[in-house]
Amino acid sequence: MGIIQSKTSLSQVPEHVAIIMDGNGRWATRRAMSRLKGHEQGAKAVREAVKGCRELEIPYLTLFAFSSENWKRPEEEVNHLMGLFRFFIKREMNELNSVGVRVNFIGNISRLPEDVQKLIEYAVDLTQNNSKLVLTIALSYGGQEEIVNAAKRLAEKVKAGDLNPDDICEEEFASSLDTAGIPDPDLLIRTSGEKRLSNFLLWQSAYSELVFLDVLWPDFRKNHLEQAVDEYCNRCRRYGAVSA
Ligand code: IPE
Ligand code: IPE
Ligand code: MG
Repeated sequence: MGIIQSKTSLSQVPEHVAIIMDGNGRWATRRAMSRLKGHEQGAKAVREAVKGCRELEIPYLTLFAFSSENWKRPEEEVNHLMGLFRFFIKREMNELNSVGVRVNFIGNISRLPEDVQKLIEYAVDLTQNNSKLVLTIALSYGGQEEIVNAAKRLAEKVKAGDLNPDDICEEEFASSLDTAGIPDPDLLIRTSGEKRLSNFLLWQSAYSELVFLDVLWPDFRKNHLEQAVDEYCNRCRRYGAVSA
């Protein structure tokens, strides 16, 4: 927190931080371990990110945990990840609930194993009245799929006579996305040194500040969040206009 307070006022802290948690496999491979071990360590870094956001009073955190394309990975890895999601929800929900975190999920949840879907329902239900931090977990999520689904929802409304095509505007479109009601991310972080979005929050990141960190996700700690927020605080956001 120290470095951030020294350089900036709290009003500049991002309202919404989104993170592409990348590098679990490389973390494990570098240690001659199986990729699965990397995912296990990655779950620990999630706790750090949540804690960091709470301390910095950032009200929205979105984590990319599994993409719509990650289903292409070997069955053993996918199954292991599903097991970790199960374990994480069972183990962490009471703690998250007790500190005021509201948990939310985006993505094609119906593709997940049924018991994971039930756990997701339980977690959303348990934490629905909390307001300290909205933690959105993107699971089986793809930005293009989300945009296509939004277009389908709008088309259905037009077909039913409930919507005039001329009334489809950016706001109407955004409210048909999985992220309806959540502000767009101010700061989007990707770990592991890769510099791409990999289908994450394509619509919502139109004006996000992008910060790419070399740290592999299992090594991510609060100080990395602070470093990214610090960089964000030194950026000039123009939204296409000219600076004052
Ligand atoms: C991110 O780490 C976790 C998921 C995509 C589920 P990776 O598994 O992609 O790790 P690398 O990129 O292979 O190192
Ligand atoms: C993006 O990472 C998805 C998640 C972090 C959950 P990937 O590792 O799947 O992305 P690519 O394959 O390097 O683009
Ligand atoms: Mg990766």
